[in-house]
Amino acid sequence: MKIVHVASEMFPYMKTGGLADAVSALCSALAENGHELSVFLPGYRAALEHPDASGAERKMRLKVEMANDFLSGDVRVFSPRKNLKVYLICREEFFDRRQPYGNGERDYEDNSDRFIFFCKAVVEMLRLGELQADVVHCHDWQAALLPVWLREAERRHGVTLALKTIFTIHNIAYQGVFPSKTFARTNLPDELNQMDGLEYYSQINLMKGGIMFADRVTTVSPRYAKEIQTPEFGCGLEGVVQTRADDIVGLLNGVDNAVWNPAVDSLIPARYSAVNLAGKAVCRAELLKRTGLSSDAKSPIFGVVARLTEQKGIDFVLENRDFFLTQDVRLVVLGSGSRRMEEELRELAAAAPQKISVSTKLDEAMSHLIEAGSDFFIMPSVFEPCGLNQMYSQVYGTLPVVSRVGGLADTVVDVDDDPAHGTGLMCEPSALSLRHALQRALVLFADRPRYAATQQRGMAKDFSWKVAAAGYERLYQDSL
Ligand code: ADP
Ligand code: GLC
Repeated sequence: MKIVHVASEMFPYMKTGGLADAVSALCSALAENGHELSVFLPGYRAALEHPDASGAERKMRLKVEMANDFLSGDVRVFSPRKNLKVYLICREEFFDRRQPYGNGERDYEDNSDRFIFFCKAVVEMLRLGELQADVVHCHDWQAALLPVWLREAERRHGVTLALKTIFTIHNIAYQGVFPSKTFARTNLPDELNQMDGLEYYSQINLMKGGIMFADRVTTVSPRYAKEIQTPEFGCGLEGVVQTRADDIVGLLNGVDNAVWNPAVDSLIPARYSAVNLAGKAVCRAELLKRTGLSSDAKSPIFGVVARLTEQKGIDFVLENRDFFLTQDVRLVVLGSGSRRMEEELRELAAAAPQKISVSTKLDEAMSHLIEAGSDFFIMPSVFEPCGLNQMYSQVYGTLPVVSRVGGLADTVVDVDDDPAHGTGLMCEPSALSLRHALQRALVLFADRPRYAATQQRGMAKDFSWKVAAAGYERLYQDSL
């Protein structure tokens, strides 16, 4: 099949979270299976500076219609591996920036223009016959209107640009909601600016368009596919999701075992596998050394790697500060985002610098070292569409402590509930419930044989993208 993916992130060209890992691994897996993959990304500064892009060919110049303006852009293309081409949609004014969505404090004011431009440039490429697509697969709000424009362009020009469109919701909490006047920039017919179109409480909602107009809608875990049909998790779009209840499927993300694999990982100081965990002990010692924590083999290390947002349940960790201060444990946190959370975490570390380490950087190597060197990984999310770190943890022999929501509930089994199959510990998304799970972690850690058996079960799980990619292949075939 000729498959086009459109997303705002792809590892290693731009990454703020799991979307980047998921897009990268899915596209690689599909390319490996012999499909012809074209991925469209915004031409961010980091993407253009990446060594893979150094020999990028300047494919063409485009003009994109937005309201009454025509904005020009460049398309550059390179091929990081067989069957996979990456197209960067470049326009300095929009994408020559360090951060993709905002400056840390606030989102950029021109985000609607930036991503409308991005998607319309993709439509132009298809319209000009620069590439053919059986399936156009769009990710999250930044690419959500593409299915709408594709159908509209086909109606206007009487040609088929894509046989089928797929829209994947990685996180329904980010919908791309903009003032109503933004609608003019889409050049879509006015009837789409209504309640059964993009209109959303007198604004416009891009994700709503993707959910309504794509041929198929997917999300990143079976449980989240159900959750987003309820007011508790639907973030206001539950009604819209319900209208697609028959077409929405939850396909679990996988783990890219070329990148997240302790047997080959070049970002950690020693390699290891389930049969020989000596390397994990080296990683553990290195983690303590690098973070300046005192070492004591008998006390467990808890790791956290997360975007600091409400979603990740960081407040539940903070509300348990006395646990980390009074118990004989170590805590290593890597996360950036909310200024308040960054500050509160730094204060916590300052209160016990021998036991608690906090870094608020984006640090790919450190994220691997934490996965490898910790004994437990804490991820008590309020909601979690899929979550990758709890899977990485199991692969790295680090026991996840997670809340029972979304993809976390689909990928972790509580060892106290199910001693024969358990791979981690689960709680409800609350500080008190997390506290109980942390206490249970101490008990589990003290029982070495039970801890080791739980670890082995986690490491034996198959989270590879083979399974996930096969699910998408079936979906594409089915829709065609
Ligand atoms: P989400 O996409 O909601 O952030 P996921 O669990 O799907 O959650 O993916 C998070 C990804 O981002 C993981 O690869 C994780 O290691 C990475 N990550 C999060 N924060 C940081 C950070 N400060 N430095 C490096 N990697 C990070
Ligand atoms: C989103 C979700 C996360 C998911 C990732 C990749 O960022 O928050 O749960 O794993 O997308 O699909």
